[in-house]
Amino acid sequence: MNESPNFVTLEVEGKSVRLPVVIGSEGEKAIDIGSLRRETGYVTLDPSFMNTAACYSQITFIDGEKGILRYRGIPIEDLVRKTMFIEVAYLLVHGELPNEEQRRNFSAMLNVNSMLHEDMRHFFDHFPQGAHPMHILSTMINALAAFYPNVDLKSMSEDIDLSSARLISIVRTMAAFAYKKSIGEPVVYPRHDLSYCANFLNMMFDSPVRPYQIHPEAVRILNILFILHADHEQNCSTTAVRTIGSAQVNLYATISAGISALSGPLHGGANQAVIEMLKMIQADGNVKKFIDMAKDRNNPFRLMGFGHRVYKTYDPRAAIIKKECHDYLERTHYTDPLLEVAREVEEAALHDSYFIERNLYPNVDFYTGILYRALGIPENMFTVMFALARLPGWVAHWKEMIGGETKIVRPRQIYIGKTPADTVDVMENREPLLH
Ligand code: SDX
Repeated sequence: MNESPNFVTLEVEGKSVRLPVVIGSEGEKAIDIGSLRRETGYVTLDPSFMNTAACYSQITFIDGEKGILRYRGIPIEDLVRKTMFIEVAYLLVHGELPNEEQRRNFSAMLNVNSMLHEDMRHFFDHFPQGAHPMHILSTMINALAAFYPNVDLKSMSEDIDLSSARLISIVRTMAAFAYKKSIGEPVVYPRHDLSYCANFLNMMFDSPVRPYQIHPEAVRILNILFILHADHEQNCSTTAVRTIGSAQVNLYATISAGISALSGPLHGGANQAVIEMLKMIQADGNVKKFIDMAKDRNNPFRLMGFGHRVYKTYDPRAAIIKKECHDYLERTHYTDPLLEVAREVEEAALHDSYFIERNLYPNVDFYTGILYRALGIPENMFTVMFALARLPGWVAHWKEMIGGETKIVRPRQIYIGKTPADTVDVMENREPLLH
């Protein structure tokens, strides 16, 4: 971190306070307010942290104005063209792309840790039919701490890399098992001879009476989707992971919290909500009606898959996914009428002043569901796919957080509630309890 010689001077009630300016490796600037309360008695107020950097990080860089996304300094456009998802997972967690030996060892570690403890497999029998797979996943991940207790930070006797590999691998098995249970089919175990993405597709779609033909094109597209979702700096679910982890909660409970945060429709749940929205628009046939609803402040309807807290231009992930949608459907001769609906919605929104003025563009979720449908993934599994892909990012941030001088996350607040003057008579009329 380039510690700039610059300071800013704040005048507070006649007192001049010098606060250091911090400049990131990509030129981002911040005012370090670590001494503010001690020197002035003031705190800063920034609901939802829209203007607040919560930490230093070396994992992912986003430039929201230019539509740039890089993992450990490498543009995602290069990663989707030249790497596989497990190499990107290694890059995020370990800081560098693996060499051939490291890749082989990591792949072997993922393979050895892809099996679920047989006692855990029976957990699936007790979830009610129709339970959302995200709820199942966050429960099962949390339960891992009971089966692998050595991941509590104090007794971190188990190697972090082993715990990380287990999570990245076993979550894929859990997701496929949850799907199989939801359709009443027997689970399909992971195979040692299949790659990460091929194994997942096989566990999802193979069956004793209907052998699944693994198509290289499907494996390629899944690798791209997982790479594009693998990390996104301090988003809501990653902030949840860093916050929960800062209390020295074990890794599995921490990741379980990230999965819960991701399931929200404003976050990872949006990919499922986009398809539901496109189906509604398709049935109604009137795109303009829904665009107008999205613009109406009195209407809770929002254009799902549009807008982003950080990107104020086209989400670079959405651009890649949109192109892959077109190419994949053309190559596989698969047609999806919702793709045309999505294009019409995008066209209408991008030419509407409401969206233009607010810099609202398609985000990562807008076209993703079209590809998941083309792969045969059911809609209630879309956010699970996001969670599988985001696992390495969460683990990388947890590892970075515990590796630093992290203190427990505990923000301040500005109290605007009642004061004793408002409540003085409330207690006066009560008799003391005789005990
Ligand atoms: C993800 O943070 C990340 O990095 C997340 C993520 C990741 O990889 O981890 O990128 C993944 O979560 C992507 C976002 C998926 N969510 C959706 O697609 C849901 C739809 N989008 C919106 O709800 C919204 O855009 C958010 C939640 C994504 C961002 O909201 P902000 O930053 O809090 O902005 P805001 O709600 O204050 O909106 C600013 C203005 C408002 O209008 P005005 O008050 O100025 O009149 O833009 C409007 C909003 O009403 N607006 C929208 C809109 N999004 C914002 N209007 C219609 N449709 C939308 N989608």
